[in-house]
Amino acid sequence: MEQESFKNPFRPGAGHRPPYLAGRTAEQDEMKQYLDQRLVTQNVILTGLRGVGKTVLLETVKPIAMEAGWLWAGADMSESASVTEDNLALRILTDIAPVTAALAIAEKKHLPPGFLSVEETMRQPLDFGLLNAIYRQEPGLVSDKLKSVLTFVWTMLSGTTKGIVFAYDEAQNLADHAAKSQYPLALLLEVFQSLQRKGIPFLLVLTGLPTLLPKLIESRTYSERMFHVISLKQLDEQASREAIMKPIEDAQCPVRFTEEVVETICRLSGGYPYFIQFICKEIYDIWVAKAVSGREVSDVPITDIVMKLDNDFFQGRWARVTDRQKELLKAIVALPTCDDEFTVQEIVGASRMLLEKAFSGSHVTQMMSSLSNQGLVFKNRHGKYSLAVPLLAAFIRRQYDSIG
Ligand SMILES: Nc1ncnc2c1ncn2[C@@H]1O[C@H](COP(=O)(O)OP(=O)(O)OP(=O)(O)O)[C@@H](O)[C@H]1O
Ligand SMILES: [Mg+2]
Repeated sequence: MEQESFKNPFRPGAGHRPPYLAGRTAEQDEMKQYLDQRLVTQNVILTGLRGVGKTVLLETVKPIAMEAGWLWAGADMSESASVTEDNLALRILTDIAPVTAALAIAEKKHLPPGFLSVEETMRQPLDFGLLNAIYRQEPGLVSDKLKSVLTFVWTMLSGTTKGIVFAYDEAQNLADHAAKSQYPLALLLEVFQSLQRKGIPFLLVLTGLPTLLPKLIESRTYSERMFHVISLKQLDEQASREAIMKPIEDAQCPVRFTEEVVETICRLSGGYPYFIQFICKEIYDIWVAKAVSGREVSDVPITDIVMKLDNDFFQGRWARVTDRQKELLKAIVALPTCDDEFTVQEIVGASRMLLEKAFSGSHVTQMMSSLSNQGLVFKNRHGKYSLAVPLLAAFIRRQYDSIG
């Protein structure tokens, strides 16, 4: 069969490059403005709900930045990188090392005083070993040490590049730990702010869930002024349609979606890229499996697809929620503004109407904090809450509808 050579192009997953990147030109243009800074005064946060396309967008910014003359260093910010200040410093050195090792050779005259007394190491690439050795040897606190190494890196690279972008995905994992007197998040903010004030063009691009900015502000109030926030939303109607249609435009593709199918996918997905990829992949597979004659998918087994989506995407999260938390979420999804934002008082009100055992304000506040740690809700800058997972409200309603 001719269609065998054409594979299902849709790619639901974390950070998987989509077959066609729909929309997002406005966000890319916005990003370009910040790559235009000579003196870096504004860093960038790319934020949005799960699966909205942050990682994929960040990946597309990399070549744009490099073309504009920047070097690019970055990684995922794991929780372990943020356990101690020293871990965070090591994370940064690890990320910058491949960039510097390829470009800079340290000679003794370049190195900080007292460094490299052994003759045979007079010339050495600026690799992790060397960066780490300099870091260890510098006096002072972790922030002093890190600033020294990064300043040194810049003395070695300036003139050869516009600057360095430090791009960190999953940056909501960063945290300070007052109980252990470890402040890695504050360290990151302070070090970059200090280097930028000295005119060193290091640009921070942090990507993460909507909890990110409030977290940064809590750590250092000046973060609010240090970052420009780009919020990724669901794709608009036109971009959603492109995300659905473009991947199957190829003449070799055995599947065509009717207008009705496209509309159904737009509606079911709410324009969220992950859901678009997921639903399209399912429909495509179902169609190919059935090997329906003609070249059009005319009906969409909505119930089956929604069930699979519930299983694959939502159930894992739901399973970790306690019964009392489920009741709280039930009260939340009864609110008319549950897909937008809501207050503790509104939740208390809804719980009085709906539940046998209503919640008090302080109880709600406390539970929202644990739901926030579980990644299900987040608190915005104005103290209001939102659901942190797209289409979660509809999922929760389905749970209660199915049990009556
Ligand atoms: N602009 C887009 N057009 C089409 N598909 C997209 C677009 N952006 C992202 N996707 C698809 O959506 C899915 C999620 O993308 P991605 O992993 O970048 O989201 P994310 O916001 O980083 O999610 P998370 O919060 O879980 O890290 C992927 O399957 C990706 O291919
Ligand atoms: Mg991501």
